[in-house]
Amino acid sequence: MAKILIHKKRKETIEGKERVISKFKKYYVADLTRDFHCNEGVLKKNAFKKKQAKTNMGFTFSIFDAQFCDEYWRMTRGPQTIPLKDIGVIIAITGLNKNSIVVDAGTGSGALAIALANLVKEVHTYDILDEHLRIAKENIEKMKIKNCFIKKHDVTKSIPQKKVDVLILDLPDPYLVVKHAMKVLTSGGWFISYSPHVTQVVDFCKEVEKQEDLFIVKTIELIEREWDIEDRKARPKTQGIGHSGFLTFVRKIG
Ligand SMILES: C[S@@+](CC[C@H](N)C(=O)[O-])C[C@H]1O[C@@H](n2cnc3c(N)ncnc32)[C@H](O)[C@@H]1O
Repeated sequence: MAKILIHKKRKETIEGKERVISKFKKYYVADLTRDFHCNEGVLKKNAFKKKQAKTNMGFTFSIFDAQFCDEYWRMTRGPQTIPLKDIGVIIAITGLNKNSIVVDAGTGSGALAIALANLVKEVHTYDILDEHLRIAKENIEKMKIKNCFIKKHDVTKSIPQKKVDVLILDLPDPYLVVKHAMKVLTSGGWFISYSPHVTQVVDFCKEVEKQEDLFIVKTIELIEREWDIEDRKARPKTQGIGHSGFLTFVRKIG
C-alpha cells in the first residue's frame, strides 16, 4: 500500500522576522522499496514502517497509509471531471447509500462513477467513446473498485439497467435521456443532470416538465471559495474554481 508523507511547516522567516504559519508539504510514495528523495532531503526506506521520521536534512514527516481520498487525485484525467464539491452535494441531497443502484452517463474519466462506487451497492456507467472508456477502465482498476460496471452504450437510445435509485447525467444533451430515465427509475428515485451551460438546463427542464411522473426539485450552482488564513491575514484566495456546472435535481413519482 502506498504511503502519504506530510511535513507540517509551523514557522517561516521573512526579512529576518519569524512568524507562525500553517502550511504543509504532502508527498505520495508508491514505491516503498527505495529511499525517497524530495526537496526536504532523503527519507530512508525503513522509515515507511514508522509513523514519523526525519530526512537527512532534519525535516520531520508524519507517515500514513494512502486512503481513497489520496488515491482519487492520482486518477488519469481525460474528459473534464465533476469537481468534488458537486459530487458532495449529489450524495447529500439524494442520500445514496450502500443499498443504492446508481447509473452514471457519460463515464468520461470515471471520476464520478468511482467516487460513488466507493459508497453505493453498484454503479453502472455508460459512454460512447472507446478512448474515454479505456481511461475510465484503467482508473477503475487502479482504484481497485469492484462494483462499477462499465459499458459502451448511447444513453440517448436507451438505459440498459433497471430499478435505478439514482441516475446522473453529465453529457451534452441530457434532455434526450429524459424519456428513458422515466422507465428505469424506482418510485422516489433521483434523476440528476449536471451541465456547464444554462441553456442545457433549460432544455432539460422543459423535457422533464412534459412528464407526469417526474418533478423538478431544484436547480443549483455551487460555488466553492477557499480562504487563506495566516494569522490575521485572512481573506479569500485570489484563484479558485469558478463556475463548474449547474445541477438539476428531479424525482420520479408513480
Ligand atoms: C464531461 S464527460 C463526463 C465526466 C464524468 N462525469 C467524470 O466525472 O469523469 C462527458 C462524457 O459523456 C460522453 N457522452 C456523450 N454523449 C453520450 C451519450 N449519448 N451516451 C453516453 N455517453 C455520452 C462523452 O463521450 C464524455 O466521455
